[in-house]
Amino acid sequence: MADIFERLIQNYGPIGQHRERAHGYFAFPKLEGEIGSRMKFRGKDVVVWSLNNYLGLANHPDIRKVDGEASVQYGLASPMGARMMSGNTNHHEQLEKELAEFEQKEDAILLNYGYQGIMSAIDALCGRHDVIVYDAESHACIIDGLRLHPGHRYVFKHNDIADFDKQLERATALIDKQGRGGILVITEGVFGMAGDQGILKEIIALKSKYQFRLLADDAHGFGTLGETGMGAGEAQGCQDGIDLYFSTFAKSMASIGAFLAGPKVIIDYIRYNIRSQIFAKSLPMPIVLGNLKRLQMLRTMPELREKLWHNALRLQQGLKDNGFDIGKTNTMVTPVYMKGGVEEATAMVMDLRENYGIFCSIVVYPVIPRGHIIYRLIPTAAHTDADIDATIKAFSETKAKLDAGAYKVEAIPDMAEA
Ligand SMILES: Cc1ncc(COP(=O)(O)O)c(C=O)c1O
Repeated sequence: MADIFERLIQNYGPIGQHRERAHGYFAFPKLEGEIGSRMKFRGKDVVVWSLNNYLGLANHPDIRKVDGEASVQYGLASPMGARMMSGNTNHHEQLEKELAEFEQKEDAILLNYGYQGIMSAIDALCGRHDVIVYDAESHACIIDGLRLHPGHRYVFKHNDIADFDKQLERATALIDKQGRGGILVITEGVFGMAGDQGILKEIIALKSKYQFRLLADDAHGFGTLGETGMGAGEAQGCQDGIDLYFSTFAKSMASIGAFLAGPKVIIDYIRYNIRSQIFAKSLPMPIVLGNLKRLQMLRTMPELREKLWHNALRLQQGLKDNGFDIGKTNTMVTPVYMKGGVEEATAMVMDLRENYGIFCSIVVYPVIPRGHIIYRLIPTAAHTDADIDATIKAFSETKAKLDAGAYKVEAIPDMAEA
């Protein structure tokens, strides 16, 4: 018989295999100081492009005040227990009401974390005769939700409406054959890696041809897209067609927790059947009060969103003018595509951090095909024109070095913490 622990340490996985050289630098880095566009990394000042603090709310003094006062008043324990048993409060319900109003849905339910919340929502929504049709580039939390689904699922090519139509046809045929079950379509408002919006409007248009319900994960679109910040549905003029709207608080709200909004009867069903909430402690009061404050600011301070977009467009235009490939983004998420090996990518990132004071994240093989590198830049309202200009200059200089082969190294630089 194999020892499970023995097997694990034989193979630490695609990223874990590099931990001895990477830990604390390329993986698990520690950014220090006040959250903002400039922070400290290993004692050096860096411009940070890795935080989803889209509206710059993380360190807003009004938010710090509410977070602090609520912690003093309630502590982190209150309320105790799951919402269903003993952990419900008027503040939790108020936040749900305001979120539903903002998203123009009848009701909303709070989730402790986005990841486990959406997984559990998928589990609560679908029985074994139901079929899930989902976008191929869905976030890991959706994929893990599918793992809980005992019935069939069909994947459609990323944002490919013709393939979506084909998969819906297959799903419909299967349900007709079974004589029971329905279809849940799952996609995202914004795909967080490439920055392209999900084709919500086209998907919704197919409701005239097929019968299905749509769940949209709009983690990145909430607070950032649309006239009022309602999200990708508002931006595309199809909010009504999203049956269930999901977002986390971990991005534009710079907090923790998440929510799902939709028709009252369905949210009520979920409220009484979502296992990750029924069997888990309620969100602590300071988080709920902090989120109420954040939502109020997100709704009443459009200047934050305007600043985010000013910065995003300046960054993206600057990169394009300097010959960079930023792919198909039509949101603030800014990928920069380059060619090179994993080792080269890490050497370039190190040069950016050590000599140019630019901190950004990279995506390499095996997440994407071998030989490709994606630098993922997240502009926020907290960045300045000077941050953006310095970054474009640093990218131009380091890209020239990459193309000249200056980063060709044998192995990932050993930057692990001593
Ligand atoms: C698209 C998407 N969905 C869900 C989540 C998970 O949300 P949370 O961080 O609240 O668990 C994330 C990451 O934060 C995400 O990017």
